[in-house]
Order: sequence, then structure tokens, then C-alpha cells
Amino acid sequence: MLGPLAIVAITRIVSLPAIALATVATLLIVLITSVKGTGWEPTTDISEEVLEHRASAVPETEFPEPGNRAVGGGGGGAGAIPAGGDGEEGELEEGGTVSSGPGDIPEDEVEYFEVEFVKQGETVELSNDQPILEQGEDEGWDLPYACRQGQCVSCAGQIADGPSEDFVEHDNQQMLEEAEIDDGYTLTCVAYPRDSFSIETGEAP
Ligand code: FES
Repeated sequence: MLGPLAIVAITRIVSLPAIALATVATLLIVLITSVKGTGWEPTTDISEEVLEHRASAVPETEFPEPGNRAVGGGGGGAGAIPAGGDGEEGELEEGGTVSSGPGDIPEDEVEYFEVEFVKQGETVELSNDQPILEQGEDEGWDLPYACRQGQCVSCAGQIADGPSEDFVEHDNQQMLEEAEIDDGYTLTCVAYPRDSFSIETGEAP
């Protein structure tokens, strides 16, 4: 007969290998399962099928490209301006009847006036379709100027014969006041002759 101590010792000896065996068996099962897989196979790729299905569900539009983009822009082709189109500006240009400034005079209607440049000591003929400044420069005179747009007084001169606008037409001058114009002052860079007169250049109010 084995004593109680012997039984405990035997039990322990038997249990340890059994536990080790069970552990190894478990690991083997896990390993085999992971190598062989679960047997699940993915279904065939359905992405193409889904895309085709969705495409067939979208209604066809009548608009050819790039008209489709214009629809998204909020107005289709209605607001588009064709290149060189029939807009108002084009009509005006084609008609040729609307002038944009006092210098826009048809060639056969250009007139010439005798203008005395007092400081230069010369009288020359100036046309009515170019500013006094430009025509004075064409004579070779070094006349004062800065902006050439009627926005300073660098080019100012004084017409001795009376209010300047009795003799010239200003194209959008923004500097001279009414009283100064009445005193004969003019901005020669934007002043177009409308009569004969005498002028002193380099004279500002
Ligand atoms: S150059 Fe400036 S107004 Fe004539």
C-alpha cells in the first residue's frame, strides 16, 4: 500500500506531463487552424457589378459636355457671352455712331484752328481731334505735363481770350473749377481745340 505522501507525489508527477501535453495539443490545433485557414472563401469581386448597376440607375441627360457644367453653374448657356458676340458694345462699335470722347472725330470732319503759343512765339494750326499738349509736342516744344489724364494741373495753360471752354473741349478733366475755367485755364493734355485762340502754356491757377 502506498502512503498518502506517495500518492500526492505520483499525482503531481502524472499531472505535470498531462498539463504539458494538453498545452502542446492546444497549440498544435491553433497552429493547424491558422495554417489551413477557416475554409472561408471571399466572394467574387462585386465592385464592377455595383458600379455598373449604379451607372445604369443615373438618368441620361440631353446636354453634351461642356454644357453639363454650365447647368451646375446656375444658368446653362443662356448667360454665356459668345466670343466676339452680338453684345451691345459690339453693336455700338459696328454702328460707328457713338463717340467715346471729343477726339473721336471722323477723318473727313476734322477741322483746324489757328492757335498762338505766346511763350513759344509761334502760331500753328491745331486739329480738333488731338489734345493741345500732344500737338504742341509734335512741334518739338518741351511742354509741362505729368499724368496726361486730366488729374493734375501740371499741363495747365491759360487762354487769354476768355473762358477756356469757349475755345476747347475738355475730355474728362477733374481738376479745374468753374471759376478757373472762366478765367481761361485749361488742362492741355485733355483739351481739344474748338476755335482759334492764344494760349500761355505752363500757367496754372
Ligand atoms: S498732365 Fe495732369 S492734368 Fe494734364
